[in-house]
Amino acid sequence: MSHHEAKIAAGKKAAEWIADGMIVGLGSGSTAECFIDSLIELCKEGLKIEAVASSRASAERARKGGIAVMDINSVPRIDITVDGADEIDSEKRMIKGGGGAHVREKILAAASKEMVVIVDESKLVGTIGRAKLPVEVLFFGSPSTRKQIEEMGYKGKWRLQKDGTLFITENGNLLFDIQFESPPLSPEQDHFNLTQIPGVVDTGFFFRLAGRVIIGYPDGTTRVQ
Ligand code: A5P
Repeated sequence: MSHHEAKIAAGKKAAEWIADGMIVGLGSGSTAECFIDSLIELCKEGLKIEAVASSRASAERARKGGIAVMDINSVPRIDITVDGADEIDSEKRMIKGGGGAHVREKILAAASKEMVVIVDESKLVGTIGRAKLPVEVLFFGSPSTRKQIEEMGYKGKWRLQKDGTLFITENGNLLFDIQFESPPLSPEQDHFNLTQIPGVVDTGFFFRLAGRVIIGYPDGTTRVQ
């Protein structure tokens, strides 16, 4: 529960940075949802913005609250994207994709003037790589793609839904969740190795994308890094 209060605090703080006329990228996951809820409140009070979303869930939540959610291909720019993270280190390197939306999240972040990351303290780590690293893989040829990933020494599993069937991303792809035995010495090298394999769309590593980071605390306070 305390994590929830911390997420609400971080989301609320990020919403304070949104100004009239902005085109806002909406991340995915429980912390991003807190941001969307705060944004909805501000829009009800008169804030005028447009949004683009990294997932159907975020788009639906925002639309239900009365926010105009646009097609990403039809907006001229994205001013700011606000999103959560599974892990973030002191260099603002992150692992994302716990919710399976990291490819679209990364596209939004890269297209934005700034990506604001909102987290509770549990997401701050010394070294990223204890969380599972999601790798999005095209369904076409996926057994062979998986074999090549494993031949590089990475161990993992296809992500499944609760009913045991394969998890399919909104891009129509599979997720291979890598579990490192210990946090990798060079996440950048791992990202490079993995994305060289044909059929790998992207990994959940995010480098040089995070701008300001808002850390929320259970007592409702926040710290900006
Ligand atoms: C969604 O695909 C992820 O990248 C989320 O941003 C990440 O998993 C954080 O989610 P929570 O805010 O729910 O922890």
